[in-house]
Amino acid sequence: MKVFVAGATGAIGTQLVPRLVGKGHDVVGMTRSESKQDQVRALGATPVVADALDPGRVAELLATVEPDVIVHQLTAISTPDPRHFDRDFALTNRLRTEATDHMLSAGRAVGIERFVAQSYCAWPYARVGGPVKSEGDPLDPKPAREMRKSLAAIRHLEAAVLGADWTEGIVLRYGAFYGPGTSLAPGGEHFEMVRKRRYPVVGGGGGVWSFVHIADAADATVEAVEHGGRGVYNVADDEPAPVAEWLPALAQMLGAKKPRRVPRFFGRMFAGEAGAVMMTEIRGASNAKAKRELGWCPQHSSWRQGFAT
Ligand SMILES: NC(=O)c1ccc[n+]([C@@H]2O[C@H](COP(=O)([O-])OP(=O)(O)OC[C@H]3O[C@@H](n4cnc5c(N)ncnc54)[C@H](OP(=O)(O)O)[C@@H]3O)[C@@H](O)[C@H]2O)c1
Repeated sequence: MKVFVAGATGAIGTQLVPRLVGKGHDVVGMTRSESKQDQVRALGATPVVADALDPGRVAELLATVEPDVIVHQLTAISTPDPRHFDRDFALTNRLRTEATDHMLSAGRAVGIERFVAQSYCAWPYARVGGPVKSEGDPLDPKPAREMRKSLAAIRHLEAAVLGADWTEGIVLRYGAFYGPGTSLAPGGEHFEMVRKRRYPVVGGGGGVWSFVHIADAADATVEAVEHGGRGVYNVADDEPAPVAEWLPALAQMLGAKKPRRVPRFFGRMFAGEAGAVMMTEIRGASNAKAKRELGWCPQHSSWRQGFAT
């Protein structure tokens, strides 16, 4: 198939493109920078330069490329400050709303077979009921104030992709990425914060996190590209875990001191309501549907072993 990867140079794109090429697909990888074209070529894809927020350019490009599948892996997250979550996600939110619409519209014009888009499976789920959520469970009807726009952008992306009844619209709700090229990797920002004891357990640390190794996320995406049916899939490892469990285990693995423990009100003061919610209330995600329907199985079944690889 001819696969157009938007976000070919990113943390997941750089894992995904070589896998698709290795499976014999003809991959076209998008970047905004002339200077990153060689990076895309080195991954085995044909580079194209465009800004996904420019609808005319996206339409022109996709009319020329004529892909069978579009994969949307565009984000601009850098290092968000949870106190200003929506502010720091503003560009990502535009990529999840405007760029999604531009690519769907251009994809429709050339009759793509599938549209696979990146979503997220941790903080968007409603913070009620059991600790682990499935795709049919509701998203948060009342997110923390600083996260409202970001959740609205996720809702927009998911509704637009699933509502595209002229193609197979697939939403992959990834867990928190870790591994090469992410912030949860040796030398990565979050590993360093844990090492320096700057990542405390807030309140009881009851927020349940689902992780996924970036290579496993890419493997699931290949399955979705090749044979995924319309719908939402959680792409996470087998062991959702509360902060109170994974954070001390990570610190120990890094040879750091035990993380500090701070009361919720203190955590809220320094990390805002969004930070406190993520440390104390969010829910994890079940990967049963992705395993069953995509035939995917994570090589790193738990962050316990995965963090060390
Ligand atoms: N599920 C998760 O946990 C999750 C999800 C996403 C990101 N993250 C993390 O966030 C950190 C930073 O990631 P990031 O958001 O900066 O993403 P990234 O992984 O660096 O990738 C962003 C991709 O989007 C492309 N892009 C952005 N804006 C674009 C535009 N207007 N037009 C065309 N392409 C555009 C970039 O292309 P060019 O720069 O080449 O133009 C790049 O390929 C990493 O640690 C990553 O692991 C985590």
